[in-house]
Amino acid sequence: SENLPLRNKKILITAGPTYEAIDPVRFIGNHSSGKMGFELAAAANAAGAKVTLIAGPTHLENPDPAINLIRVQSAQEMYEAAMENFPEVNAAIAAAAVSDYRPKNVENQKIKKEAGNLHLELEPTPDILAALGKEKKEQILVGFALETENEVQNARGKLEKKNLDFIVLNSLNDPGAGFKTDTNKISILFSDGRKMDFGLKSKKEVAGDILKELIVVLNE
Ligand code: C5P
Repeated sequence: SENLPLRNKKILITAGPTYEAIDPVRFIGNHSSGKMGFELAAAANAAGAKVTLIAGPTHLENPDPAINLIRVQSAQEMYEAAMENFPEVNAAIAAAAVSDYRPKNVENQKIKKEAGNLHLELEPTPDILAALGKEKKEQILVGFALETENEVQNARGKLEKKNLDFIVLNSLNDPGAGFKTDTNKISILFSDGRKMDFGLKSKKEVAGDILKELIVVLNE
């Protein structure tokens, strides 16, 4: 129906940061609030979709009990939950700020302070979105890019490399865009070369803009 454009659609969304353990009490994380992903989940649910939301550590509550919220900590846990759920969805949106690196060895005991420098060896985490791009069959796949330089060129590179249908670009150069804020300013780059620019809006409105484009692509 026109009122529920995502009725009968299943959508997977990743959101929030990941925490990568250093020892039992410390981790490597980032400032992602999870707001953008939770707004997308709420909007997709309101549009009639069956939503699975895989969220890293965030204080945000589940926007609606109908949303299947899976809370995880690490990139590895997010990867496993995403890969398990991906085969049965019509679309996936990767809005999570996944840590690119994790400590190679997780200490079993709290690391003691000693004289001199401490060296932590880091290894790459799995790129969840790239893995979904490899597994992709009929699914529509959407990613995010947060760039500080050569934004459009870098985002296009990711769109192609990760086998996406479109990528949402937000620039940290725009005041009010990105981490921790309630507003965002985005451009959408499509795999057919089109680019759409949007103004500064609330993350709720931005979620609506993104879903509108997803609905168009799903109906093509
Ligand atoms: O390559 P980059 O990290 O800039 O790509 C950002 C996009 O890839 C976002 O959609 C993010 O959710 C996703 N990503 C991911 N797993 C990673 C790193 C990024 O899903 N390990």
